[in-house]
Amino acid sequence: MLTQGPRGTKDILPDTVDRWLYVEQKIRTLCRSYGYQEIRTPIFEHTELFQRGIGDTTDVVEKEMYSFTDRGGRNITLRPENTAAAVRSFLEHKLYAENALTRLFYIGSMFRYDRPQKGRYREFHQFGVEALGVAGPAVDAEIIVLAVRFLESLGLKDLTLSLNSVGDPACRPIYRERLQNFFRDKLNGLCEDCRSRFERNPMRILDCKKESCQRLSEGAPEITDCLCEDCRSHFEAVKAYLESAGIQYSLDSRLVRGLDYYTKTAFEIKYPPLGAQSAVAGGGRYDGLVEEIGGPPTPAVGFAAGLERVMLALETQGLYDPPPRQADVFVIALGEAAKIPAFSLLVSLRDAGFLALMDHSGRSLKAQMKQADKANARFALILGEDEVRDGVVTRRDMRTSEQVKIGRQDIINSLLCAEVKD
Ligand code: HAM
Repeated sequence: MLTQGPRGTKDILPDTVDRWLYVEQKIRTLCRSYGYQEIRTPIFEHTELFQRGIGDTTDVVEKEMYSFTDRGGRNITLRPENTAAAVRSFLEHKLYAENALTRLFYIGSMFRYDRPQKGRYREFHQFGVEALGVAGPAVDAEIIVLAVRFLESLGLKDLTLSLNSVGDPACRPIYRERLQNFFRDKLNGLCEDCRSRFERNPMRILDCKKESCQRLSEGAPEITDCLCEDCRSHFEAVKAYLESAGIQYSLDSRLVRGLDYYTKTAFEIKYPPLGAQSAVAGGGRYDGLVEEIGGPPTPAVGFAAGLERVMLALETQGLYDPPPRQADVFVIALGEAAKIPAFSLLVSLRDAGFLALMDHSGRSLKAQMKQADKANARFALILGEDEVRDGVVTRRDMRTSEQVKIGRQDIINSLLCAEVKD
């Protein structure tokens, strides 16, 4: 038990961490060119922030939050997502003061007590962006383009983008009533969750994964038939902007998303080969959230991508094979008298910026050479008692096995001339 991490968590091991760094680097480069600035909010927040922000009737709040009372009696929750926290921080630090549009991005772990399976974890990582302060449809399009370009920049193919409008407080009540009328005589056939959704949040029924509920919701009224004029023209404009950027999408009037704060635009990007967990990114507009959390009316839009799913998609498409790690030099000390001079050589090599390794265990020459080989070292630098006495180092080219003796003070220059550094 002690040697196994909690269910639903994963270690990112040294052989895959390069892939994460690669993806994070892509994110930072892309966000920079779109003018998004990084924000890092705490891993935990007041529980109420998520209850109010995400919505009491969502699965995330009802079933999936890691909540506890801390030693001071506060109700605390590990963040299940970062939009509500980004908005909290935006308000607390008045990030709206300088600019009409505040552009933020984040990378970090989120926590949901979900049923773990491939692509679904209890601790997972998201890259997300939030654009706060402007209501116009161009911002929705900017966010969607960014999401698409992010995945494309990794070389991913075969992604699908689904788009919908979920309306706003003006038109949603009309749709809600139509949906209730549609489902009223089907209530007995719905699952227990959906029966309770019927009163509290009937749009959620459309999102139910149970086959019987999906069958019963066939032919349900579509939100896009109920949109008010404002939502309709906004939706049309978003589509026009996307088309102008050459972004392909398909319309999906059943796309409701799992969080309650969305208004107008909602979208999801899928990589279908991932099966049940194929949603790699999702987001939309959330014009009411800032006010809900206690701020002034502030329109906003954003998305988040699940990085574990992005990694799975990269793997499936064979897209990123990290280059084997290669040490520049491997220092080998032979005998007691060589230990300290070899250590001091190691330090000066590292100070000069070489990737230098040494086996501190004092094993035989053969064993240390094997280590140098395993580390893919370009050169081995051997110090035995003779070398120490003569103030030299034996430099062995690991490719050709050629050995030369080089004066201690000339070693770094000789390596620079051999161009071992990347
Ligand atoms: P979300 O759809 O709940 O949206 O999550 C975004 C992405 O996180 C999903 O598309 C998926 O790739 C990944 N994800 C979610 N749950 C898990 C899990 N248990 N294991 C692995 N990956 C998961 C949000 O979180 C919103 N805050 C997005 C947003 C930002 N909307 C506006 N701004």
